[in-house]
Formats: sequence, structure tokens, C-alpha cells
Amino acid sequence: MSKYPPIDNSGTEIPSNHSANPHITDLISRRTLLQGSLSLAVSAFLPGRLYAAVAPAAKSRLGFEAIAASRADAVQVPPGYTAKPFLPWGTPILKGAPAFRADASNSGRDQEQQMGSHHDGMHFFPMDAKREAQNSSEGLLVMNHEYVSPLLLHRSGPIVGATRPTDQVHKELAAHGVSVVHIRQNAQSEWQLIQDSPFNRRITGMTLMDIRGPVRGHAKVQTRFSPAGHQTRGTLSNCAHGVTPWHTYLAAEENWAGYFTNRDANPPREHKRYGVSGISRYRWESADSHNSLYQRFDASSLGKTPQEDFRNEPNCFGWVVEIDPFDPVSVPQKRTALGRFAREGIVFAPVVEGKPLVCYSGDDAQNEYLYKFVSAEPYVKATAGGHLLDKGTLYVAQFSDKGTGRWLPLDVNDKEFIQKAEKAGVVFADQADLLLNTRLAADIAGATKMDRPEWGAVDPHTGEVYFSLTGNESRSPLDVDAANPRPYNTFGHIIRWRPQKNDHTSREFTWDIFLFGGTSNQLQDAKGKKKAQGTGGDTQFSNPDGLWFDPRGLLWIQTDIYGSQLAATFGNNQMLVADPRTREIKRFLVGPVDCEITGAVMTPDMRTLFVNIQHPGERSRPGHYTSNWPDGGNSRPRSATVIVQREDGGIIGSAEPAPAVPAPKK
Ligand code: FEO
Ligand code: CA
Ligand code: CA
Repeated sequence: MSKYPPIDNSGTEIPSNHSANPHITDLISRRTLLQGSLSLAVSAFLPGRLYAAVAPAAKSRLGFEAIAASRADAVQVPPGYTAKPFLPWGTPILKGAPAFRADASNSGRDQEQQMGSHHDGMHFFPMDAKREAQNSSEGLLVMNHEYVSPLLLHRSGPIVGATRPTDQVHKELAAHGVSVVHIRQNAQSEWQLIQDSPFNRRITGMTLMDIRGPVRGHAKVQTRFSPAGHQTRGTLSNCAHGVTPWHTYLAAEENWAGYFTNRDANPPREHKRYGVSGISRYRWESADSHNSLYQRFDASSLGKTPQEDFRNEPNCFGWVVEIDPFDPVSVPQKRTALGRFAREGIVFAPVVEGKPLVCYSGDDAQNEYLYKFVSAEPYVKATAGGHLLDKGTLYVAQFSDKGTGRWLPLDVNDKEFIQKAEKAGVVFADQADLLLNTRLAADIAGATKMDRPEWGAVDPHTGEVYFSLTGNESRSPLDVDAANPRPYNTFGHIIRWRPQKNDHTSREFTWDIFLFGGTSNQLQDAKGKKKAQGTGGDTQFSNPDGLWFDPRGLLWIQTDIYGSQLAATFGNNQMLVADPRTREIKRFLVGPVDCEITGAVMTPDMRTLFVNIQHPGERSRPGHYTSNWPDGGNSRPRSATVIVQREDGGIIGSAEPAPAVPAPKK
């Protein structure tokens, strides 16, 4: 066995909330919870609406034949649909880019010109989006590449010793980030990549980025690379995403903490509370070229001042990055006012002219929080832009057991917050210091610890906000609360809230649980009577993750079951669609072996659905693949997008006709 620790292929998040924050303990008597069975306790504390009878649908809006769970190594869709792999990892996208080599022998420089790995959050920007038109046959497909599996990225896996070969490190960095791809339908309605398009772009873990908002220039982001603290290189762990009302793309930085090492005796709170440890996931800092592009992943205090080393490099990650896909030379902007955590993604409330902009995010780690940002300036369509994301108030969610909740401001000028910080003996020098330590500020505010917040989505018709809580095996029976009611939450649930008076700037909201994951048994209460709102039976699912509302207001739910034991019960990861009005749910797609389904978007005419298949064959080793998707035979598995269309060219998922879509302007 090597004396060097192995590379981590899993991309798992780091649990690091060691705060004593209760799970709304002030509101719930733990003793009551412990009396009687657990399921009874759950039903006792769920808001009444959860068990409300579901009104039968007059007519189902889910106009397709649901498919069965499956463990086949294939993408399966309902009868009458096709699913074609598109843009797999390694596809050359830049002009003159080298072809993908099936033995994975492409270099790091090649990878910079090809599709990255581990496709994740994704959006389709119609080519005329900036003119508010809705071209459905040509656009920019923009997607995140969350992480890499070095076992599959390199011909024979990673080489790990006292140093790592620079080209391997470079390739791993280049396979991260974001791809912008110009695509168009041909006369047969088949989507094609326009390889020479000037819009095609790779943003990687090395691309130059600006730091914007309150943290720009702060002492804690000054580095050897940017002594003024104005810039950094790269974006990493881009999981879910966001789309601004002004048609730019937001890449969220999720599990970045594991990429760094800090071997100082007393790492600062900006590192500790996020789980930066002595060992980095991929050992990039040990690249044998000793170039600072790779060395910066060592955040130990090696020089005399922060300008002589990279002790502050981890502070340049954990943000939302704004990218303008229509401007291929634009410098991506890290928007620090939105806070710093393991950010899954970001979703916007419907915009109202003249009112502040509101967006929501989750921190994807066990026992972390849900956040909301309200811009200081009002949204005005004619002048809207990234500046709106640079100034505003960040809030964290506190859920009560009565189906209500509050947004607690994380603001150094808020009296109540200052009092709480003083009581906790914590000092934030300024708002930038607070934002760098968003998790700590949320601990102090008294936020509710959640069961791993993953994606969010906003119902375009009601404005209700839905978030996946994918699971939390660390939640003990002592720690359950109404919003996170299951101990050792293996199967996850989806929570939703409605702001008071439908005003998203309000500090008050009401909430309920929309669906629980699990089998029929797990959805029953202790008396075996009332069923929690889940599916069970034919459409049971586990570990909701990706969420996306289509323009009709149907909620697409994607799963990320981890571990083959659960897959034995629920089948391979899948995508279902639910009608929020009736809670009717049907399974629409099942992915290949050992994949995660993540990222979904349709063209405005709803005749093409793009879905991402991440890490098929996740448990593969060099030469031994647990999946051969998408290329088949004995090939190396690759993350890829799939294009889903109806054979008759109709609207996806529905028997209804499409709402009128304006003809694309030429
Ligand atoms: Fe990257 Fe939250 O899953
Ligand atoms: Ca996810
Ligand atoms: Ca997940």
C-alpha cells in the first residue's frame, strides 16, 4: 500500500457543522418527541397541511406512460420518446480541438478544449434570449462540470507519490468548471454542436475571475497571485447553477473545501468551519512543476505575509460565479454578497419591476442551512445586471414546528444579530468578514440545521419555493424537528415554503413538506394508517436532488441515491415529474448503472429536454467498468447530456398542447 493517501474519487461533501445550534429545540420539547414511537413523533409535529387529503385531479397533467425502476445500463424513457447521448466528456468543442481518445490519453491542454467531466447544473439560453425572444432551435447550452474521477480521467488512473505529474493535475483542473456550447437543430430536428462557433468556451479551475461585492480587496482574499485581493483563478465543484433575469449563468461552488490543504497548527475559522483539512482531495499542490497555478491548493502559512503564499486561496472559493455566455471574452465574476458556503445552486423568485431582487440557496452538507438574498437596489428591467448581486442583505432560514418560519438577517449592522454575536463571543470586523464566515454567522443567528439542502426551484405560477433535502444520516432521534422529521434520514424529502403575502422580501413564511422519499412502508405512520405524502409502490424514489420547474408548473425531480444497497430497492438514479397541485407523480427517466441524474432544462417550446447523466460507472477502476454508457461495448463510461424528444415531435411529458410561443425573430 502506498504511503501517500489515496485520491478521493467520490466528490462527497464534508460535514463540518460542529456548532451547538439546536434543531429548533426552543420550540419543541425533546421529551415529548421521545415518548411514543418515532413515527408518531413525526406525525405530531408535522404541519396539518402535510396530511391534508389530496384533491383528485380533474385530468392528469402528466400525459405519458410512467416507466418502471430499472438497473439496466441504459437511459430509459417512456414509450414514444427517444433519448440520445450528447456532448460526453472529452467532446472537442473549441475550434481545432483534438479528438477524444477512448483510452483517455488526451493531455491537460487537450482537456482545456474539450467538454469537462461530471456534467451537472445546466441551462439552455435561446440564441435570442437577450432580446427576450424564445428561439427553440438554436442556443447556448451552458453546464457545470462538478468534479472528476481520476481513476477514469487518466489512462491508467492517477499517479500519486511525493509529487504528482503536472499534466495529470492540469487535466483534472481543466475537466472542472463550465462549458458554453453553441448548438443548433438541423432539418431533421437533430441537435448539433457548432464546433467553430466563437461562443464555445471552456471555463476551468484555472480561468481568471474577478472578486466582486463586499469581499473584493479584503485582507482575507489577498494572495501571492492577487496582492490586492481583486482576482483569483478558477471555479470548482460547480454543482447546481442559477440563471439571472438578465440572462447570465451562475455557477455555484459546492465542495471546494476538500480541494485545499492547510497544515497550520491553528487554521483560521474561514477554513475550519468549512472542513479544509490537512489532506487535499487530489493533491494538486504537489504538482511536480511547482507552478503557483497548482501550488495554491496548499493554504498553509508558508511565507511571512499573505502576499507571499496562498493561505487565503480557499477564501476565494465558496461563492456564486456570474458568467455571461453571450460574451465569450468576459471575465467571470465571483459575487461575494451572496455569502460563502458549500453552495448547491441559486434560484430567483419571480422578479417584480421596482422591487428588490430575491434569490434562494442551499448549503449542501449535513446540518447546514438555507439562505435568501434580497438586493439593496430595486430590480429595474432596463438596467438590471450583476451589480444587483453585489449589495443587499443575506438571511438564513429558521423553521418553526407550526409550519411557519423566519428569515434571520446576517448583517453586522443588525441590532439583534450584533447582540447574538456578542453573546456568542464572536466578532466580525465588517460585513466582508461575516460573509467569509457565513456558516458561523448563521450558527450565531440560530438557523435551523437541515437534512442536506440540494437544489431549489420556484413554481412559476404560485411563487412557492421548493428545496430538496436529500438525506442526513447524522440526524439523531434527539435532533429531529418538524422540518427535518426523520431520524437518520436515509431517503430525503422535499420541503416548500410560501412567503407571507406572496412577498419574497418578507421575513416571514409558511412551509410544509411536499414529498418524502422512501418505500411505502417508510411512508406510513406508527398505526399504519395515514401515509406521509410520498409515493411508495411503483413510483417510489429516494434522495431527491435536482429540481426544475417547467413552464407549465410541473416539478421535475432528479435523484442521487448513494450506495448500491439503496439502488437494489429503488433502481438506478432517475427523474420523476410531479404535479404540485395534486401531488401526482410519475417516473419519466431512469439512468445507467452507478450514475446520478442531475441538470434538466427544456427549450422554450418544450419539445426538447436536456438532462445530464453524471458519473455513470462511478465505482469503476481502470480496466474494470461498472457501466459502459454511453459508448457501449467495453468502453470507459463518460458523463454526458441526453437529449430527450418525442418521436412525434410533441411536447415533453404532457398530452396537452404547448402554450403559445412567439415565433423566433430572425
Ligand atoms: Fe454536488 Fe449537492 O451535490
Ligand atoms: Ca447535487
Ligand atoms: Ca447529491
